[in-house]
Amino acid sequence: MAVQIDYCRRTWPDKLNFLLGDSEHLSSVVPKGTIDYLVDIESSFFYPDKTSFLKEVREVLRDDGTFFYGVLVPSWRLFNLDLTLRKWFDVQSEEDVTCSVLRSLQLDSTTLSTFIDSHYPWCKRFDVMTCRSREVLPEAGMGH
Ligand SMILES: C[S@@+](CC[C@H](N)C(=O)[O-])C[C@H]1O[C@@H](n2cnc3c(N)ncnc32)[C@H](O)[C@@H]1O
Repeated sequence: MAVQIDYCRRTWPDKLNFLLGDSEHLSSVVPKGTIDYLVDIESSFFYPDKTSFLKEVREVLRDDGTFFYGVLVPSWRLFNLDLTLRKWFDVQSEEDVTCSVLRSLQLDSTTLSTFIDSHYPWCKRFDVMTCRSREVLPEAGMGH
């Protein structure tokens, strides 16, 4: 991880400040109640203690701060996640982007799509079924 931080510091030396820290202990890296915007995209499913992460986000955000949270979550866990989020945050909006993600895979990358087919075939099957039931994805090219 330090390699990525070094890369970011070299690439954007003036405008941004990059810190290395543990998402579950954000308040050890930045002072509490000081963050205006906090973005966590497609990462937190790797954090061992997600509850601690969300509590820490709440701690470091200003009272009028905004948290943008994108997470891969199985549909059967959505209800509990929603309850947890509403415990600490005033949820302004939520969006299921599954169909858009699948659509971009379909349009964008044969290599990536082949990788997913060979390593995580269940993932596409499950989500394509969900999308088809909403009539968002065309049938072509998603032949599972
Ligand atoms: C799925 S990857 C994130 C990918 C990122 N969204 C991207 O597009 O490049 C998850 C990342 O979370 C990091 N991670 C796991 N536990 C963490 C923690 N407690 N604190 C900070 N980062 C953590 C992992 O090292 C990994 O780089």
